[in-house]
Amino acid sequence: MPVTIVVGSQWGDEGKGKATDYLADQMDFVVRYQGGNNAGHTVLAGGTLLKLHLIPSGILYDHITSVIGDGVVVDPGVLIQEMEMLGGRGIDTSRLLLSGNAHLIMPYHLELEKVTQRFLGKHALGTTKRGIGPAYADKAARIGLRVQDLFDEKIFREKLDVVLKEKNLILTKVYGRLPLESEGIVQDYMAYRDRLGRHVADTSKLLHEAMRDGKRALLEGAQGTLLDLDHGTYPFVTSSNPVAGGALTGSGLGPKEVERVIGITKAYVTRVGSGPFPTEDLGEAGEHLFKVGDEYGTTTGRVRRCGWFDAVLLRFAARINGFTDLFLTKLDVLTGLSPIKVCVAYRADGEAYEDVPPHQSTFHRAEPVYEEVEGWDDDLGDVTSFSALPAAARKYVERIVELAGVPVSAVSVGPAREQSLRVE
Ligand code: IMP
Repeated sequence: MPVTIVVGSQWGDEGKGKATDYLADQMDFVVRYQGGNNAGHTVLAGGTLLKLHLIPSGILYDHITSVIGDGVVVDPGVLIQEMEMLGGRGIDTSRLLLSGNAHLIMPYHLELEKVTQRFLGKHALGTTKRGIGPAYADKAARIGLRVQDLFDEKIFREKLDVVLKEKNLILTKVYGRLPLESEGIVQDYMAYRDRLGRHVADTSKLLHEAMRDGKRALLEGAQGTLLDLDHGTYPFVTSSNPVAGGALTGSGLGPKEVERVIGITKAYVTRVGSGPFPTEDLGEAGEHLFKVGDEYGTTTGRVRRCGWFDAVLLRFAARINGFTDLFLTKLDVLTGLSPIKVCVAYRADGEAYEDVPPHQSTFHRAEPVYEEVEGWDDDLGDVTSFSALPAAARKYVERIVELAGVPVSAVSVGPAREQSLRVE
């Protein structure tokens, strides 16, 4: 069973790129399975920090084939820019593969997201404004254009004309915007086709064959469990399925291939955009996490909301994804906070909840029930093994394991590869 799935257990930004880096030596393929350029992976390559939005972080390794799978929505202009940025830094992108089934983000998706989010006023979701939601909406409505459509210009034009007729009516009549011109879009997208053509492949088939040959794949999720369209804090979610189930539909592999599902879990919690966040801390602790953790959104540069570790959410994520183990990131950021609070349950409407309340209105009112654990003052950045961590830091990790019911297999204490400590 050669497949490992890497899933964020919170609201994204848990450090999934770090886990991919840790596991890269054992992998032949790294596959992005959902989302688009709303994601942001910060990876350390040759001493410099790189921000990747769409291309899987496996691209940094010569022995890995990186795949953008069927379930991803692709803004081809952004993809080309990212390839050029990597090329400019001497990183080879020739092995990058792109599924012909992936849907295209079109200019009207960006335009529509702008006006519809503005229209929602104070109810806006705080999206990344990259056209993700509108592109997935068109996919579900079966009026999306896919990467493979680029290779039949006649069909591409026909589909675009049909869709644009409706989109332009909405843009002009509902939102008072200017209509978009079909010809300009066709010209731009045909140029993208010429640039991307040699990367397009039947990625599901190729992955299947590689698995049969004993190769190994890491399926890399974007965002996180609580942003999942079906299982997250709807409607404050993204429009795809970051959870482990989504990894299979988004890459075209079957469940029999899966050996390991790793939940990437930050040692505290952050969230970008609107929506409930029971352990959010607007005081000194939140400020510490924000500053020391450098919690700015990789994609939009927005400030991330910060708060204490939430074991209720982790138990939920473990259940939805079937985690086999956890990769705990950014433990070093907690240095200097004492005591450290851990949310073990919620209280809402006079009742205690050990699980996420099934009704969202209850969840919005949920107050965290905290237990306090001892903190530590030592800098963890130079620690080279789990057993060398301060006793309080080890206890914190052990408490998370107990509360989640899932083992922690690695802990990270800084951005560099050698700062990922294996837990025996
Ligand atoms: P969208 O994905 O742009 O539609 O945005 C929907 C919600 O998901 C917003 O709250 C975004 O801030 C959030 N979101 C999308 N991508 C990421 C990510 O990579 N990290 C954290 N939040 C994200």
